[in-house]
Amino acid sequence: MSHFCPAYPPPRGKLASLWGLFLSARHSWLDALSARAYQMQMGEVHLPGVDLYMVNDPAEVRRVMADEAAQFPKSALLADALRPLLGDSIFTTNGTQWRRQRDMMNPAFAQARLEASFPVMAAATEALVQRLHAIAQAGDEVDIEIEMTHVTADIIFRTIFSEPLTGADAHRVFEAFARYQALAPKLLMPALFGLRWMAWPWHARRSRRAAAEIRTLLEGLIRPRHQAWLAGERGDRQDILGAFLAARDTATGAPFSFDELVDQVAMLFLAGHETSASALGWACHLLANAPDVQQRMHAEALATMGTQPPQQPQMKDMPLIRNVFRETLRLFPPVGFIARESSQRCPMRDKQVPQGASVVVSPWLIHRHRQQWSAPDAFDPDRFAREDSRDALRDAYLPFGMGPRVCLGAAFALQEATLILACLVRSFTLAPLPGHTPMPVGRLTVRSENGVRLRIARREGAP
Ligand code: HEM
Repeated sequence: MSHFCPAYPPPRGKLASLWGLFLSARHSWLDALSARAYQMQMGEVHLPGVDLYMVNDPAEVRRVMADEAAQFPKSALLADALRPLLGDSIFTTNGTQWRRQRDMMNPAFAQARLEASFPVMAAATEALVQRLHAIAQAGDEVDIEIEMTHVTADIIFRTIFSEPLTGADAHRVFEAFARYQALAPKLLMPALFGLRWMAWPWHARRSRRAAAEIRTLLEGLIRPRHQAWLAGERGDRQDILGAFLAARDTATGAPFSFDELVDQVAMLFLAGHETSASALGWACHLLANAPDVQQRMHAEALATMGTQPPQQPQMKDMPLIRNVFRETLRLFPPVGFIARESSQRCPMRDKQVPQGASVVVSPWLIHRHRQQWSAPDAFDPDRFAREDSRDALRDAYLPFGMGPRVCLGAAFALQEATLILACLVRSFTLAPLPGHTPMPVGRLTVRSENGVRLRIARREGAP
């Protein structure tokens, strides 16, 4: 059986000039990848601003991300690009500062909290299904990426604050974040290539302004809860902000300061919806082009949930739907590259990596590596159930990263995605829109440059 192969920017044939590489990467880092990058174990590029090492070799990836993680801290370049929005959040800090933050945030992601967040996810998913019913009735074309951004932002917002993100606020946050996301490579790439003068001051100003808009909105929500907490009022909200307010440094007993709370909440809001929205948008594109898989998923969703409201334990009983999501994360890993910095000179394969070099682990390249995967560009969710993929899964699959800095929200994201996909295929069919081919661009996450537009129709007897 032949499988659908989604389009992506054609790899470069021969080595580009540095200038050509810069211009491509400034638009999207996916455009700068060569055909060799999908086959090599390790590569190097020497840019004016930094020496860059790309690592695909599974043993070296494990070394950088897990076994010797302390020697390869988060890259300062990336932290600088994200600081206006995320401050000193867990995503960018290192060493003891990161350890303290991770220890204080862990309880907010425990299994019990995952179960407690299910009703919130189900309510936001039900709102999505109602919006899609209206779209399917009025016509049949939808940009599903926009809908997926809406539902995932709604879920993470309600999980953090116990209230929905509505009307004008929702619009302001989405719009400001889209601006921030579009400007990120324009600021990051000049720094990386040692061409900071190319980062026009108005790009930096616009990026800071977009970040400030998002943070101001979040501060307005956090301040009253923080002040009430300081005044001894505990309230009864079982949300993530409540868990962060209650968190204490295990060594000193100190709570998060107000600024730290805003940093962590901004980071969670971003990491908690942007990644999931990206993956769910791509999942819909893949499904629209694989009607047989869609039909099997529909049967699985109906057999598990009937036409009743979904229940949390059922999320573990839909293996095909989970595998579709896992295969989507393989083909379109939202975090397409992970940058670390070498804190000391070290040998790696046949190379000497100097101190201060950027060491990049790219899930995008590793998940499509020609020597690791059979039919690497094909959408084949059943590969996750087959014995012959075991080695690739163990050695060449890391959509959530690995080691001590592995994604804190992986279980949350899997539960959320299974629920949304199950409810979607239970009620609707998706089909491609003739003449529209979504094209991935690599910015902060892997998004489509031209949206994910498709046809949607209500199924007979859909709940
Ligand atoms: C499909 C969805 C998601 C994907 C693919 C994803 C991917 C990742 C990856 C690759 C990292 C590690 C980055 C690195 O090592 O540099 C990461 C870190 C992180 N993610 Fe996710 N993520 C997803 C959803 C979420 C959600 C829903 C949340 C929160 C509710 C979340 C919270 C975090 C946090 C807090 C970190 C930082 C952990 C640390 O540095 O200690 N993520 N994520």
